[in-house]
Amino acid sequence: MIELAGRAALVTGGNRGIGRAFVEELLARGAARVYAGARDPGDVAAGAVPVRLDVTDLGQVAAAAGVCSDVSVLINNAGHFANRRLVLTDDPDAARTEMEVNFFGTLNMIRAFAPVLAANGGGAIANVLSVAGMVPTPFMGGYSTSKAAALWLGTIARAELEPQGTQVTSLIVGSVDTRMAAHVDGRKEDPRDVARAGLRAVERGESVADTDWMAVDARARMARDPGRYERQLAKLLHAPTLRTGR
Ligand SMILES: NC(=O)c1ccc[n+]([C@@H]2O[C@H](COP(=O)([O-])OP(=O)(O)OC[C@H]3O[C@@H](n4cnc5c(N)ncnc54)[C@H](OP(=O)(O)O)[C@@H]3O)[C@@H](O)[C@H]2O)c1
Repeated sequence: MIELAGRAALVTGGNRGIGRAFVEELLARGAARVYAGARDPGDVAAGAVPVRLDVTDLGQVAAAAGVCSDVSVLINNAGHFANRRLVLTDDPDAARTEMEVNFFGTLNMIRAFAPVLAANGGGAIANVLSVAGMVPTPFMGGYSTSKAAALWLGTIARAELEPQGTQVTSLIVGSVDTRMAAHVDGRKEDPRDVARAGLRAVERGESVADTDWMAVDARARMARDPGRYERQLAKLLHAPTLRTGR
């Protein structure tokens, strides 16, 4: 169990969507300081400290680790969704960009902040992942594989950082009402509910946590009949309502 009040936290992609909700929720819970990492730090929530931070830019990542030296909670939320097919695609670089942001960006942050967290007593890391990282999801192939890589990264980082007292939580997130899911019809969660569920999982020191209904439902379908669920997801690739780019 860790107490979030009184701590300094950094949220990547903290300017909008789920990241902004994490920033606001951390402030509401009495965090001493909340850094909102943003590629364009002009528009962050009132009360947050803006930090220019592209997670793929090693210079900016190192600079952030220097400026945010009091951080003991790191929320790796920044993410990229190209909405392209993985194999039959006219944009082969899209999957590389998804991997750069979602996997290597998260790895860059964990490497740079591990010594900061150690110096501040261990602390906690939470990685904002996706149902598509838990279940191979053909209609978002590059994104799915990059989030799966980040899910394994979370488990490996947990083992490596355990001796310094840093806990690592992988958050499995369903569909959320943000810019990233603007093209999605159907049920979408409120980003504030996802941030609250994510912070509760951090407080409890959970290794992997489902933040919402879709994540719980997907895990149940996988457990019940993985072959059937795989076929259902494959059919969705060809559903006329999904706007999946080539
Ligand atoms: N929305 C969903 O349905 C859903 C579902 C599962 C998981 N997620 C995950 O939730 C996280 C937040 O996404 P969201 O839904 O809030 O989408 P969003 O509103 O599009 O926000 C994405 C955030 O990531 C930032 N970002 C992108 N590339 C970056 C980079 N190279 N360096 C730093 N920041 C970068 C964006 O910055 P800019 O403002 O500069 O573009 C923005 O702040 C992502 O990891 C996403 O994969 C979302």
